[in-house]
Amino acid sequence: MKVTVVGGGFVGMTCAQRLAEQEVAENIVLIDVIEGRPQGIALDLNQAAAVEGYQAVVTGTNDAADTHGSDLFIMTAGMPRKPGMDRSDLLEVNGNIINTVAAYIKEGSPNAKVIVVSNPLDTMVYLMSQALGFETKRVVGMAGVLDSARMAFFISEANGGGIKDVRCMVLGGHGDSMVPLPQFSTMDGVSIQATLPGDEIDAINHRTQHGGAEIVNLLKTGSAFYAPSAAAVAMAKSILRNERRLLPCAAYLDGQYGLEGIYMGVPCVLGSNGVEHIVDLELDDAGREKLNASAVAIRADIETLKTKGLL
Ligand code: 2OP
Repeated sequence: MKVTVVGGGFVGMTCAQRLAEQEVAENIVLIDVIEGRPQGIALDLNQAAAVEGYQAVVTGTNDAADTHGSDLFIMTAGMPRKPGMDRSDLLEVNGNIINTVAAYIKEGSPNAKVIVVSNPLDTMVYLMSQALGFETKRVVGMAGVLDSARMAFFISEANGGGIKDVRCMVLGGHGDSMVPLPQFSTMDGVSIQATLPGDEIDAINHRTQHGGAEIVNLLKTGSAFYAPSAAAVAMAKSILRNERRLLPCAAYLDGQYGLEGIYMGVPCVLGSNGVEHIVDLELDDAGREKLNASAVAIRADIETLKTKGLL
């Protein structure tokens, strides 16, 4: 197995670390445009293997040819938000980076699957998919696993612990319009609505929707990376090991949830073909309306990309 992580920022370097430590692939490539950075991170990770005992070799490079023949890419490159910025403010700068990376994936790794992490997520994964021209199921976006992990932590805090047993479902776009679904969130199968009062659940939903910005505001420079990399690597494992986990991911919609022609967060079974299938949940009217509002926000970003000539 060969996995390439694109982008040597905090998300990319922690992805490479998790992939190596968990021996997800024996051959991990970390590529970045900054000379020396991916090479330095790779050397450090390869030396850590002597202590941790993992069997994986990380290659740091600035040369796209070194990524050729990859089975999977995790695309993390791009500018993070600064305090006060919306993810959509990154459309142009990150859209250009996506197009550059798509060109070398298409050329050198025509059979790869691609997990996109760069923001604004739902638009960047759409752009990647369009630029690659691969079957849409081979291109998927990371967001729902992260947003659900945030929600799970807030639920465990409210319950005084028990995070291992919390499973959450957050759908929709990876932005303020995301849709936390407490009715599909449980503690070991028990609905959280049975363990927490409604006002606490409302507060958790709100904090989840703004979970990324909360960390951006605390860090002042950069954005979250531990949970985002954990989420991306969980998806990578489900694909490479054909685990067929049910994970909320940004997938191409072709009529599911009454929507088509966009990528948006929905429950997906991830296996060796990428998105094996999408689970079309029965939502109440309020849930459907929120998903539709999320889709409107994503379509507006796609239009902006077209206006800027990136699509
Ligand atoms: C986040 O929510 C980076 O968008 C990512 O933290």
